[in-house]
Amino acid sequence: MNSFDLIEKISFIDLIKSLLRKESNVAALLNSHLGISNTWHAYTFDWGRNALYALFKNLPYKIIHFPAYTCPVLTGAARAANKQVVLIDVDPATYNLDISLLAGKKIECMVAVHTFGNPVDIKKIRKMLPNTYIVEDCAHALFSKIGDEYVGSQGDAVLFSFYKQTANFNGGLLLTKTSLKLPKQEITIPGIWPDVLLKLDGWHHVLIDKIRQQQPGKMPVPTYDDRYYAHPWTLSLFTFGVTQLDQQMQKRQQIASWYCEALEHNPYFVPQQVVPSMQSSWYQFPVTVKPLYKKHRHKLVLSLRRQALFIASMWEDAPIIETDYKQWQPSCPRALELAQTVITLPVQAQMNKDAVKKFVTNMTKTMEEFI
Ligand SMILES: Cc1ncc(COP(=O)(O)O)c(C=O)c1O
Repeated sequence: MNSFDLIEKISFIDLIKSLLRKESNVAALLNSHLGISNTWHAYTFDWGRNALYALFKNLPYKIIHFPAYTCPVLTGAARAANKQVVLIDVDPATYNLDISLLAGKKIECMVAVHTFGNPVDIKKIRKMLPNTYIVEDCAHALFSKIGDEYVGSQGDAVLFSFYKQTANFNGGLLLTKTSLKLPKQEITIPGIWPDVLLKLDGWHHVLIDKIRQQQPGKMPVPTYDDRYYAHPWTLSLFTFGVTQLDQQMQKRQQIASWYCEALEHNPYFVPQQVVPSMQSSWYQFPVTVKPLYKKHRHKLVLSLRRQALFIASMWEDAPIIETDYKQWQPSCPRALELAQTVITLPVQAQMNKDAVKKFVTNMTKTMEEFI
């Protein structure tokens, strides 16, 4: 119902269509769309964080390296699995791990995230660190490419999300080269209902959006539990959504270019640059607030949400902000800056240039109210 929202709602018709198609083999799907080999061990979970938690529990390494600017549930999963976390600074042009900082490092295990869909070159990391176990996080990166190759084939373990780029309730897929020991898994029937309410389109969103308008869009404190498979509905919706997403890639790049154009020479915001060589999936469009105005970011996001423009400060709770990881702040200044300045904007196939321009004008005017 709402047209400017990071959360893509599922229409009732699409849910029925996807259930009627009865296709749910996600590993075969990724093989046909992305060329990912189907020799991997494939495990589904109710949430990506639980996939990582299960994986980390299975890995023999005591220390896991992460980009300092990323989703806090990643490091949370490592901590829940009794691992020590080390943070590495990022490159502000791509929001990804700064590969140049890996030179000469001794790293047993690391997580490389294709942040916001911007691909990070895992092959390059392998050349520098041939013995490192690499977890490739593709939660934002379905259809992101490096050269002619889709990302998602280079890690020792690979994570995909069912709900971040396609309209879905929740769910994730973990691919591993060696089999994992897992607790007995069951289906997550009660766990799916809050997400059905939040994601399924309908008139109830008039009320839900009223509540969301008053909140900064912060994630609730996550728990980690690896006992649940992805619900069969989420598998059907994912197979349905991936086929659509495949056809939307050009449009998504176009939307990113519209944001870039609308934000050119903007006094307050710097858009991510759209360079053809990047081949991002354009999961969301990241913008940074210029340093002089960053103290207004939170108020700005809240004010826009009150106008039912549902954007987010991603990630204002990145690992580098957490008190537990304060020791890494001197070596990760760029991650710290991003955690204080990034805003992400929706990229959805039905958007048009006018809507993008109108939003940017509105965002700029709203910022001016605070200055
Ligand atoms: C890059 C990335 N990987 C993994 C996850 C975890 O996914 P989930 O929300 O399904 O637990 C998130 C965010 O939540 C994320 O942003």
